[in-house]
Amino acid sequence: MGEDGENEDGGVYGEENSQQQKQLRESQTKSKVISLVMEGNVSEVLSALRRDGYGAEWDPLLLWVRPQLCCLQTIADHVRQARLTALASVGCGTGLLEWLIHAVAGVSVRGYEVNPEWWGSRYSPPTFIPITFTKMGADTPTVPPTHALMCCYFNDGAAFREYVSRYEGPALLIIGSTDGHHRTDPHPLSYKYVSPWILTHTHRISDSDLLACYLRQDHSQQDT
Ligand SMILES: C[S@@+](CC[C@H](N)C(=O)[O-])C[C@H]1O[C@@H](n2cnc3c(N)ncnc32)[C@H](O)[C@@H]1O
Repeated sequence: MGEDGENEDGGVYGEENSQQQKQLRESQTKSKVISLVMEGNVSEVLSALRRDGYGAEWDPLLLWVRPQLCCLQTIADHVRQARLTALASVGCGTGLLEWLIHAVAGVSVRGYEVNPEWWGSRYSPPTFIPITFTKMGADTPTVPPTHALMCCYFNDGAAFREYVSRYEGPALLIIGSTDGHHRTDPHPLSYKYVSPWILTHTHRISDSDLLACYLRQDHSQQDT
């Protein structure tokens, strides 16, 4: 039987093996990154996020997007352009992206998540920032106007619209996929024609990922 022979379940040995090796490498990178965050080693975390670095096998449970310094700076610049110093990220997951933004640019960060049982379970990865948890079906929390409202790879457009409708602050940032393979909701450009939001700029993170930055209309006109 060759390398890719069938196993008892009709699966293919070669494929199974390479899948297991991929999972092992992802798990090794995940453990390494968790230690690096605990050490505060930002530059090595950024190296791990590079597609050609030792994080070539990356577990998206840690973070769905692979930002570099320019992306983190663009986010921080947008927060400051809105005359804010803090950022709230809805659906933040582990908060790794937000931890990096704070570490690199000094912006205060907090996150919002659902399903506290999962995040408190032994199967979940650690979280790196202060997070407000809400139970599924509970009222959507209101993000304070002192914070920019961000989401990255959010997966519930209706819930995001609810966060936005409650939000009275000046700045919105949406990171998501534009390639159609990974469905993100909202799409980064979802608010391009939605009053009172003005799309001020976009930043391409990768071939498939885009960051879109918006200001509330009256706020964006203050600088013109
Ligand atoms: C695809 S993950 C992205 C996580 C993280 N932002 C990242 O980029 O790695 C989407 C996250 O949104 C969270 N989520 C879904 N609905 C939510 C809601 N109504 N409020 C807060 N978080 C929510 C999920 O629990 C999940 O962690």
